[in-house]
Amino acid sequence: MEIKTIATTPIEGQKPGTSGLRKKTRVFMEPGYLENFVQATFDAIGGAEGKTFVIGGDGRYFNAEAIQTILRMAAANGARRAIVGQGGLLSTPAASNLIRKYKTDGGLILSASHNPGGIDEDFGLKFNIPNGGPATESVTEAIYAGTMSISRYHILETRDLDLNTIGESRLGDMVVTVIDPVSDYLDLMAGIFDFGSIRALFSSGFRIRFDAMHAITGPYAKAILEGALGAPAGSVINAVPLPDFGGGHPDPNPTWAKQLMDEVMSSNGPDFGAASDGDGDRNMILGRNTYVSPSDSLAILTANARLVPGYAKGLAGVARSMPTSCAADRVAQKLGIESFETPTGWKFFGNLLDAGRVTICGEESFGTGSDHVREKDGLWAVLFWLNILAERKVSVAEILQDHWATYGRNYYSRHDYEALPIDQAKALMSRVENRLATLAGMRVAGLKVSMADSFSYHDPVDGSVSRNQGLRVQFEGGARAIFRLSGTGTEGATLRLYVEYLETDPGKLGQDTQAALRPVIEAAHVLSGIDSLGRAAPDVIT
Ligand code: G1P
Ligand code: ZN
Repeated sequence: MEIKTIATTPIEGQKPGTSGLRKKTRVFMEPGYLENFVQATFDAIGGAEGKTFVIGGDGRYFNAEAIQTILRMAAANGARRAIVGQGGLLSTPAASNLIRKYKTDGGLILSASHNPGGIDEDFGLKFNIPNGGPATESVTEAIYAGTMSISRYHILETRDLDLNTIGESRLGDMVVTVIDPVSDYLDLMAGIFDFGSIRALFSSGFRIRFDAMHAITGPYAKAILEGALGAPAGSVINAVPLPDFGGGHPDPNPTWAKQLMDEVMSSNGPDFGAASDGDGDRNMILGRNTYVSPSDSLAILTANARLVPGYAKGLAGVARSMPTSCAADRVAQKLGIESFETPTGWKFFGNLLDAGRVTICGEESFGTGSDHVREKDGLWAVLFWLNILAERKVSVAEILQDHWATYGRNYYSRHDYEALPIDQAKALMSRVENRLATLAGMRVAGLKVSMADSFSYHDPVDGSVSRNQGLRVQFEGGARAIFRLSGTGTEGATLRLYVEYLETDPGKLGQDTQAALRPVIEAAHVLSGIDSLGRAAPDVIT
């Protein structure tokens, strides 16, 4: 086995986005593309010499080949050890757990999350730091800078390693440990939740349907829900991870998890439905004839956390991304705990979690998690709900209604306009941004603006400032419209419009979401001239 140093030149556009580097799979497969990014990552963290990394991915097309390359490069860069999920598989939260549990120097996670997979779809790679969370901005900036000046990478010339057999082997001087991807994660969950109580719920006839969407949570959900907790066989559907996710979008929302939605939204549907995404960090929660918005889910988990053994002592605080509805803030206020508003992206929760300032955090984009790992965690959210249901012995719909009656209802929706010409999307954002300073006090489509700004986050832990994190327009009475460009898309630009409106009148808590939000949507359209995009309607509404 020979360590080779290969001359290379910078490749444009290797800038990590909201969650690592995501590109079309064919781009990642171009000669040197993956290698440059991996070398830049090792260089950005002061080299790989003597270090231990967790490596795994969501099993999408090119996962297997990319892992072999990463292992060869880790070995050639002097890494001491690599912990790899069997078959090259690890969900993102499971990888985060392993990074923490085995006190490693970080991990490389191969995934483009909820984006479709396949040779003509998307691939991604991200580096997580030793706390188990996504690399902070200073690290991703160093990686990007490295990709712009790279001149060589190191790689071992060797055969492919067998990753299907659990056990240890060597690659040059590096030890490769192939582990069961599920067992450490299962232990972690069993330490947080009351498995006995959930088992009793299942044996009482409570029916659950979990849609793994042909993605990574299949093996985890089978082992935990059907195995450890005794849900009937077949409770987990689409459980076998496929390189192209069966041709679908592995995105747990009403649009892409339609099979599950159809089943749950019927009078004889299961009591509980849930789905997770490509890499297992997102979740969608459903009850019979009931959809729980992710923002509401965060608020409900916060309000009911004491029912779960792992959080019985109470929460330090709660954090939500800026575009996430303010529902969780209202719970925090009542509980007398701190609440934080951070920019979009899980990496911004890391400092607050590490500092013990928050226990639970979440995003409107079907992401919720806690200090048990440093990623959002799909199955964790599902188990949290099941634990609450097992304790409260009421339906999902009743939990929602009770929550709204106590705290008011933050009607909430996100409208996505996808694959827009980049210039057009940027022009729209500039147009809104240029108006921000003059908006306060103005009436727009009947709503009075109380505050408008471009969101800047001042991290209370390390003092860092992140600017330009979305445009906020707040209206009197607790309504908001937020404009943001996606940082995870791989085609053109995606404009996200987030709208919210707070209702406290007990007689108005059961409205249709889009209908209740109509005045805010209208104001947002007037403000931004969104109709000039030439789209009749958003591509995705969640
Ligand atoms: C999207 C979500 C964001 C999430 C990210 C990674 O990012 O909106 O909340 O953290 O995916 O899962 P965006 O495309 O909006 O930049
Ligand atoms: Zn994901």
